[in-house]
Amino acid sequence: MPPPCGPKGHYSLIDYFHNESNIRGIKMNSEKFTSASKVCEFVNNNPDHAIEILNNFDIDFCCGGFKTLEQACGEKGLDHEQILSQLVDDSKKSADVVDWALLDTTDLVDHIVGVHHMYLKETFPKLDGLMEKVINAHGENHPELFDLQKVVRSLRADLEPHMMKEENILFPMIKSLDGSLESAPAHCGSVANPIRVMMADHEHAGMILEKIKTMTNNYSPPEDACETYRLLFKTLKQIEADLLLHVHKENNLLFPQALSQVA
Ligand SMILES: [Fe+2]
Ligand SMILES: [Fe+2]
Repeated sequence: MPPPCGPKGHYSLIDYFHNESNIRGIKMNSEKFTSASKVCEFVNNNPDHAIEILNNFDIDFCCGGFKTLEQACGEKGLDHEQILSQLVDDSKKSADVVDWALLDTTDLVDHIVGVHHMYLKETFPKLDGLMEKVINAHGENHPELFDLQKVVRSLRADLEPHMMKEENILFPMIKSLDGSLESAPAHCGSVANPIRVMMADHEHAGMILEKIKTMTNNYSPPEDACETYRLLFKTLKQIEADLLLHVHKENNLLFPQALSQVA
């Protein structure tokens, strides 16, 4: 195992990423899963099915994706063997090829920006408009909407500059590692430090999402909700689903690959 870079002991995942066998483990799409497999590996292998099951059991697959299934289940008091049998049910295997799990860093960056950053950039302004309409119509009977609006705004205020930092600073560095972008070559500290910051941002965004989930009673609109109200909750639920996958791709695929290139 090559020596780790970055401040030692500050972020143990950074050290973990330098173990090349762990990186290969993520990408091999092995059919032989066990309870010792990492949670993120199940998502890479069969995303839709794995995400549905992991969400049902409230198991974190993005920021906590590097835990083994046994660890993650143990923390929640769940039976890992029973969940494993559901996760490896081949009848639920998607026929679609999971191309992003095998992309190299440059293609993965383009995929993340083109799919997930684009989605958020398009959705946040629509969400603001929806929130405003629902508050105008229902704010009097549902004053809790004003608090929800503040939290939703804080998610946007976090994520827009976060994506800008990724697109303008970190992602060009990552692209320079495989020579697909002409710029000064990135070095160990220069990549590890922004990755550490981005991962901390992801954790913070995850906490905001949890807050939104609780405030909306798991995205369940009240009985008197109109169509716009329902659409607002549906959009918030879609944002959560998209963001979990987005963070999974960065934390568990892109960042480990980039760090392995400067090890
Ligand atoms: Fe991103
Ligand atoms: Fe990110």
